[in-house]
Amino acid sequence: MSVKNICCIGAGYVGGPTMAMIAKKCPHINVTVVDLNEARIAAWNDEDVSNIPVYEPGLSDVVAEARGRNLFFSTDVNSAIDIAEVIFISVNTPTKMYGAGKGQAADLKWIELCARQIASVAKNDKIIVEKSTLPVRTASAIKDILTHTGSGVSFQILSNPEFLAEGTAVEDLDSPDRVLIGGDDTPEGQEALRKLVDIYANWVPRDRILTTSVWSSELSKLTANAFLAQRVSSINALSEICEKTEANIAEVARAIGTDSRIGSKFLKSSVGFGGSCFQKDILNLVYIAKSYGLNEVANYWEQVIIMNDHQKTRFASKIVSTLYNTVNGKKIALLGWAFKKDTNDTRESPAIHVADHLLFEQANLAVYDPKVSEEQVYNDLDYLKTRERAENRANLQVYLDPYEACKGAHAIAVLTEWDEFKTYDWKSIYNNMLKPATVFDGRNVLDIAELKAIGFQVRSIGSTL
Ligand code: NAD
Ligand code: UDX
Repeated sequence: MSVKNICCIGAGYVGGPTMAMIAKKCPHINVTVVDLNEARIAAWNDEDVSNIPVYEPGLSDVVAEARGRNLFFSTDVNSAIDIAEVIFISVNTPTKMYGAGKGQAADLKWIELCARQIASVAKNDKIIVEKSTLPVRTASAIKDILTHTGSGVSFQILSNPEFLAEGTAVEDLDSPDRVLIGGDDTPEGQEALRKLVDIYANWVPRDRILTTSVWSSELSKLTANAFLAQRVSSINALSEICEKTEANIAEVARAIGTDSRIGSKFLKSSVGFGGSCFQKDILNLVYIAKSYGLNEVANYWEQVIIMNDHQKTRFASKIVSTLYNTVNGKKIALLGWAFKKDTNDTRESPAIHVADHLLFEQANLAVYDPKVSEEQVYNDLDYLKTRERAENRANLQVYLDPYEACKGAHAIAVLTEWDEFKTYDWKSIYNNMLKPATVFDGRNVLDIAELKAIGFQVRSIGSTL
């Protein structure tokens, strides 16, 4: 029998967009996305579809097409579990901040709560799909919880990690490089796997749907993120050599990227990578390696994070040293707060670290981001607990107008690669700044020649141009 009802627990950056795409592509399947967070569900249900809680280009159109037809958002978790044949778990799995594994292991508290809730509600057989990114062998823990209910209900656990990148989620979901599904090598496991393959095959060519064991699938997700982040740290490590030697990182990236074995993607030097996944997933990989006593493996991957931390600190320190070793009381405009363009997500954004560093140096910061709210900026800084909340508010202001943010500033730091930054009237920005006026381009997106012709001092990543 084919699947008629899907439920997804977790209406976040993955659950929302992923389920909206399944609903769009499979009008014959009812998809219910549930969450404990009432405000989030209310936002997904907002009559004005532009108010959905996740900003992604094209997402509001996908939601508008399916919502109310076969896509539903609800806080009634139990009813959705009860009715679904397939349950995706797409809850958060952040780095654990207490107890054993603090600072490295994934906190699986929310995963376990989901498993226990499913176990207590389910009255008939279900397929449980791990959509969250999980440490390898988590499926056995989920299975353990589910099979000890004594209810006679049978569960199959599949791993189906998500590879979408924020900012391009709709594109990535519409036309994925691959969909990965791991299942047990038993007749029941293979039948469950086939059912999930059939759902994706409604729009994804079958040769792009890879099937593996559950363990390979779980580990492949951590591996993919580790490899991607490693490329960014590798190019960022080289950017520092470029700044000492007058080589240019963009030229180096082009020169190596044309080697088809290396490839040209993910070689953009920057102020550092951010986002909710890279750091968390590598730390998790490090923790797994350590827990098996594989210390060399753990140290190897940890270096990717150490390099990334260095790149963020190096960028912030350069601002201070360039401004004559003091930014005390100086206005510095930060353009961009999101961890990359085309998203309102700020988790682990390098902007947070750079701002914190400059606030320690007693700078006066002016932040502008086209999609991030004032409340979010302050929440991100308060979360660090590095100073009093009042101090964050006294020394950092959030602006709705980039020109006002830059007015009277000594320097501007570009921290997100938003396209709109390239089209600003840089002459007028220059005229309203203190001199010498410096731009620190943490994303290498601005036209250096144009800025220099206007009169700016420019510092970019990985070049002395
Ligand atoms: P998120 O924090 O945006 O969303 C998770 C949601 O789950 C929250 O709204 C939370 O309220 C809800 N939730 C938690 N426990 C719940 C419970 N017991 N019942 C109901 N709702 C519950 O997280 P996200 O960014 O969507 O990430 C989810 C998972 O997907 C993580 O494991 C992450 O590593 C993985 N992932 C994320 C991305 C990404 O780009 N953000 C990409 C691939 C994979
Ligand atoms: C990442 C993975 O790409 C995605 O497959 C996975 O599902 C979730 O984690 P995401 O974090 O949303 O996606 O964005 P991504 O495009 O990977 O960028 C991550 C960070 O690396 C951003 O801060 C980005 O600015 C930075 N980056 C990326 C660079 O600094 N240089 C690059 O060349 C590429």
